[in-house]
Amino acid sequence: MSLLLCIVVGIIIVALIVGLYEKSTNAICTSKKRLDGKTAIVTGGTTGMGLQIATDFAERGARVIIACPFKNEGIDALKYISDKTSNTDVVFKILDLSSITSIREFATDVLNIEKRLDILMNNAGVGAVREFITDDGMSFIMQVNYFGQFLLTLLLLPLLNKTGTTSDPARIVNTSSVLHNFGFINIHKINDIRYWFPVQFYANSKLSVVLFAHELTKRLKRNNVVVNCVDPGMVGTGIFRSVGNILGGILTMIGFVLFKTPWLGAQTAIHVALDKKAGEISGQLFKNCKLTRAKRSAYNDKIAGELWNTSTSLVGLSSEAMEKCFQ
Ligand SMILES: NC(=O)c1ccc[n+]([C@@H]2O[C@H](COP(=O)([O-])OP(=O)(O)OC[C@H]3O[C@@H](n4cnc5c(N)ncnc54)[C@H](OP(=O)(O)O)[C@@H]3O)[C@@H](O)[C@H]2O)c1
Ligand SMILES: *[C@@H]1O[C@H](CO)[C@@H](O)[C@H](O)[C@H]1NC(C)=O
Ligand SMILES: *[C@@H]1O[C@H](CO)[C@@H](O)[C@H](O)[C@H]1NC(C)=O
Ligand SMILES: *[C@@H]1O[C@H](CO)[C@@H](O)[C@H](O)[C@H]1NC(C)=O
Repeated sequence: MSLLLCIVVGIIIVALIVGLYEKSTNAICTSKKRLDGKTAIVTGGTTGMGLQIATDFAERGARVIIACPFKNEGIDALKYISDKTSNTDVVFKILDLSSITSIREFATDVLNIEKRLDILMNNAGVGAVREFITDDGMSFIMQVNYFGQFLLTLLLLPLLNKTGTTSDPARIVNTSSVLHNFGFINIHKINDIRYWFPVQFYANSKLSVVLFAHELTKRLKRNNVVVNCVDPGMVGTGIFRSVGNILGGILTMIGFVLFKTPWLGAQTAIHVALDKKAGEISGQLFKNCKLTRAKRSAYNDKIAGELWNTSTSLVGLSSEAMEKCFQ
């Protein structure tokens, strides 16, 4: 009993320090950029930070597509956005990143209907949930947080490429995390759910996100599409529920009281999507609306290349299909 108490008190003290630090270093996006006539996709744009990002883009006049696996959440989110903004051009589409079929359906739908895509905000993610192997044969956390977004980004690349210009490039923003610092890429164990703990999978997925921004930047020859990553900091959202009933409940409560609000947490992502200078940079990581450095191995060409090859075969992209993504 007293041990449990010590643990809880310990967590609260650490959270207090983290929360104070987060609030004192936080920065707010100051861009006045309007997005009239532009289109943005926000994955996971139905709750947490994603909902705040989608609301911000809608306020600036963009056509916004929000996507998650649950229709009822989508409908609630549409109502929230229409209450906050006067923008009626906001749509919800089903997207389950843990299913290749769902990703392909979503992408086909977007490519058929949309005439342009200015911003792809890869925000959706799961926390350290209980692991299992998906129908597509990948670790659930890795597929939702990384492999799924890898495939989605590549499938949408032709439309981003068509939309972006050198002076106003299309932007891909991927959501990483401070936990990427604890990530390891071991290609042979990348989906081995008996080898890693869930929280380690989370860290690995967030390191993969940065490695991919690095690798894709190398492969994009023209500079009309830029891809960057953000670390939102510690944000009080529902994501901490994943850790389990008791600890998850405690962390969620602490998060809501001490960590950044979802609106504050969304600021760096919004900055990277809109700021003029951020549009001149690609393959980098931002935190608190400023350029920062990821862990060293996030810029390792060999690891990035191996991960690219492995991801390509895991999501089932043939070399012809991959070529098409780059046309
Ligand atoms: N909160 C933090 O402190 C923190 C720190 C660093 C990084 N991040 C990252 O920031 C991003 C947003 O997190 P958040 O804190 O705002 O979490 P959140 O409130 O849990 O939101 C996550 C969003 O992702 C969606 N999502 C989950 N599984 C999905 C799937 N299989 N397919 C498509 N969408 C799916 C969720 O949809 P449903 O609700 O319908 O499941 C939800 O809209 C995540 O990538 C997270 O890893 C968060
Ligand atoms: C992030 O960006 C890379 C390109 O750098 C892209 O291939 C990938 O699909 C995006 N998503 C993730 C989660 O890495
Ligand atoms: C990735 O695959 C390509 C083509 O199959 C190969 O030429 C390249 O050497 C591989 N890269 C790495 C780092 O394994
Ligand atoms: C983008 O489009 C141009 C032609 O419009 C093409 O040459 C290029 O290969 C395309 N793809 C990428 C990823 O740059």
